[in-house]
Amino acid sequence: MALKSINPTKTKSWQLLQNHFEAIKDAHIKDWFTQNPRRAIDLTLTWEDFYVDISKHRITNETLDLLVQLANEVDLQDAISKYFKGDVINETEGRAVLHTALRAPESANVIVDGVNVIPEIYQVNNKIESFTNQIVNGELKGFTGQPFTDVVNIGIGGSDLGPAMVVEALSFYKNHLKTHFVSNVDGDHVNEVIKHLNPETTLFVVVSKTFTTQETLSNANTIRDWFLKSGSQNDVAKHFVAVSTNIEKVKEFGIDENNIFPMWNWVGGRFSLWSAVGLTISLAVGYNHFDALLSGANKMDEHFKTEAFDKNIPVITALLSVWYNNFFKAESEAVIAYSQYLNQFATYLQQGIMESNGKSVDRSGNAIDYQTGTIIWGEPGTNSQHAFFQLIHQGTKLIPAEFIGFAKSLHGNKDHQDKLMSNFLAQTEALMTGKSENAIYDEGVSDNLVPFKVFEGNKPTTTILIDKLSPESLGKLIALYEHKIFVQGVIWNIFSYDQFGVELGKQLANTILHEILGSTVVNNHDASTSNLLEHYKKLT
Ligand code: F6P
Repeated sequence: MALKSINPTKTKSWQLLQNHFEAIKDAHIKDWFTQNPRRAIDLTLTWEDFYVDISKHRITNETLDLLVQLANEVDLQDAISKYFKGDVINETEGRAVLHTALRAPESANVIVDGVNVIPEIYQVNNKIESFTNQIVNGELKGFTGQPFTDVVNIGIGGSDLGPAMVVEALSFYKNHLKTHFVSNVDGDHVNEVIKHLNPETTLFVVVSKTFTTQETLSNANTIRDWFLKSGSQNDVAKHFVAVSTNIEKVKEFGIDENNIFPMWNWVGGRFSLWSAVGLTISLAVGYNHFDALLSGANKMDEHFKTEAFDKNIPVITALLSVWYNNFFKAESEAVIAYSQYLNQFATYLQQGIMESNGKSVDRSGNAIDYQTGTIIWGEPGTNSQHAFFQLIHQGTKLIPAEFIGFAKSLHGNKDHQDKLMSNFLAQTEALMTGKSENAIYDEGVSDNLVPFKVFEGNKPTTTILIDKLSPESLGKLIALYEHKIFVQGVIWNIFSYDQFGVELGKQLANTILHEILGSTVVNNHDASTSNLLEHYKKLT
């Protein structure tokens, strides 16, 4: 069954939220702490190894009640049950959205077109496991009989960002295999990656759900040509494997049928790292850790599915984001992870969040007159403190930020960890409390400098404190954001699982490529594009 189509702005709670917003929009968070000594405890969600403090937000209990009422009025519960059941909630592409099935227990029963998909998932997982073990143990060897030393993931978008982010995030758990990622069609990218590689000891994983993506096929062809300078066509079978739904196209490319790891249409690219798209993750950290990543995500799925909305981490974080996006009219959100391992986390989330919820037509096909998809950005702390924090502290824009930190450091360096975490805690305090004129005068600052040193504070943040970065906790964290995306899409009454917005540019690029190659001349470009094209041709 399809998702319901309810315009959120026509609900009773939306109107109440609007009135409530007018009433509290100028209130300062720190005053609420003074009024309620229990605020920090009252507004903290605890679950397993996650401690989520939402007390430094521009919210009261009434705000939360009204936001939960909004979730109820758009029937979020019904949407959640359709999501997990495998209903065709990706209506515009006629598909279920079942990345949650990929991490469900073997005993689960998830029906798509009358068939339980869980056994197929476990069959592929077994194949991932045995292939991983054979590569890691050196049982499977390259064409000159040497064990593999390097793995190259060739893919883009969801076939690159998830695996690349997770492999980096789990570097601590990595084995001896060196992993590389080739994504951009920029030939300098692929050439930089292969220039130090030994074809005799390198495994190539070509990942493309459709197996029609220009970037991935170009890179895979270039790499195969490079490989064939050392190995023969027969050796390709030993060095190239593929992950795809498009078995025919993979075979056409020349990859052995046994080397194909299937995936399914009901797995969206940006939610696919849990499927065979995560093969490079499994190879990099071992199948046991890949499995722990899946089980962490499954735990978050259960929390999301069963917990009351007011204690439900994905639901509450999504509602807070709606609060700032639609009432405070915040233009963007920052995600700041206090872990260098999560260097690529914000980049990964950009696809998940912006490709999903960057929509302006509602589920009834009407143009939307309220804000949807948030702009997401971020870099790890503490580096980001020395880059863009100035603007969050003293700029004119309101930027709600999510701070993610881990209590234990993996290498156990207490000195660094205490310094890191003191920054993690201090920044949200500074953003919230600010610094008043009086406090600055008290420091003896000369009058003319005082205005420049004022911090108004009242900048909202969520603090997500997790015990330790492990495959399991990372799985939970990623799943949290997946469900947050889902909840926001439900509230905004949009289809989160298509991405037609990426098509037009691809089509025009094909037309222009033909023109660059001289095979066709299309004269219906705008004058700017025609001039640029001509100029490019002159330069090359
Ligand atoms: O950018 C559009 C997109 O379709 C993404 O949704 C997807 O993750 C990416 O391209 C790669 O697609 P494929 O896995 O089919 O190569």
